[in-house]
Amino acid sequence: MLDFVKHRENLFQAMADNSVAVIPSAYIHLRNRDADYPFRQSSDFFYLTGFTEDSACLVLQKKQGQCRTILFCQAKVKEMEIWTGYRLGPEAAIAELTLDEAFTITELDDKLPEYMSDCDQVYAAWGSEKQWDQRLIDAIEKVKLKARTGVQAPTAMQAIEPLLHELRLIKGPAEIELMAKAASISAHAHQQAMARVQPGMFEYQLEGTIRQYCAEQGSRFDAYTSIVGSGENACILHYTHNDQQIKDGDLILIDAGCELNHYASDITRTFPANGIFSKEQKALYEVVLNAQLAAIEAVKPGNHFNHPHEAALQVLTQGLVDLGLLSGDVDSLIKEEAYKPFYMHRTSHWLGMDVHDVGAYKQDGEWRVLEPGMVLTIEPGLYVAPDDETVDAKWRGIGIRIEDDVLVTQDGHSILSFEAPKTVADIEALMAGQHG
Ligand code: GLY
Ligand code: MN
Ligand code: MN
Repeated sequence: MLDFVKHRENLFQAMADNSVAVIPSAYIHLRNRDADYPFRQSSDFFYLTGFTEDSACLVLQKKQGQCRTILFCQAKVKEMEIWTGYRLGPEAAIAELTLDEAFTITELDDKLPEYMSDCDQVYAAWGSEKQWDQRLIDAIEKVKLKARTGVQAPTAMQAIEPLLHELRLIKGPAEIELMAKAASISAHAHQQAMARVQPGMFEYQLEGTIRQYCAEQGSRFDAYTSIVGSGENACILHYTHNDQQIKDGDLILIDAGCELNHYASDITRTFPANGIFSKEQKALYEVVLNAQLAAIEAVKPGNHFNHPHEAALQVLTQGLVDLGLLSGDVDSLIKEEAYKPFYMHRTSHWLGMDVHDVGAYKQDGEWRVLEPGMVLTIEPGLYVAPDDETVDAKWRGIGIRIEDDVLVTQDGHSILSFEAPKTVADIEALMAGQHG
């Protein structure tokens, strides 16, 4: 069970005494006339509350060592609930979410100055949303107006991210359990896509296969828009049109991961539409796979965040030389970034509630040292542009990425997405049942 009270306790501990933190919920966003995008709670807000409604705001006050948790949320109004569904309401929220106080969101602007009074600092995601910046500044102004009554107004606006995101970066056991489950579901969804694909299908039909499987397994949403790129589309890093017909002989790159109770998975697999890798596809695939294995090996406490990337670059560049796509000395080619036309992104990012999760990548200008509880992706790739005249025509238009979700453990790492097949032999064996 996610322990939201513990998350708040940890944040309180990091906050200076005599301070207030303000963390708003996410908004509902309009998609088009009268139709909204599905609502997704703000990760920061959910991490501290477990509350999934919109139009809410969390206020944490630490004053003379005393910590108070206050929630502002939508009033319970029967007529509104008929249209938009159940609301918890402030009264029930206190016990349900283990709060000290709760009010309706309409009371926020009146109450904020009270909570800020005699506090030195206001922690918030300053600079993220103008509306909230203004709202908080207005509240501080109101406190200042009370100066003659002896009340002191906050004097410092502090970024909340370094405190809160540092906590989110290190995952606890319940978070790891959720992420492992999300990764497992997604890994099996990738297997389903491999088993179902047939030349002639459209990319979005595979996207549908993945979503349906994840929904059957209890995931309400994807963690991000699935990338299903067949043939040359695999070379487009953020391809999401997913509307082309899959051809015999294509490789298909699927980058898809489900979200489970606000925690993400992020997996990429690349496989042949007809079940058998061609000679060139296989040669490049083996390079990417070996780079990925080398990068995963570099995930262990004490190594820094860039170690896996460095390991991947070594294998990828060597592979490009061995196959004749680059020529020269490998170390010099790495230094000159000669691999960039074929590998233009980095190997890793943090993974958590957000697919590109929060947390500093560098500390004091140095790459961050890996610690148990961090989760990162390992996702090297090679992409040969269809019009790349510098290489033999046989390589052109081949795009490959292999991505796993890797937890840093005490003695190394654990691959959360291990159930998604990735060796040529395993992929071809899985697909043989469908295409043999
Ligand atoms: N799915 C987005 C990424 O791999 O970074
Ligand atoms: Mn990723
Ligand atoms: Mn991905």
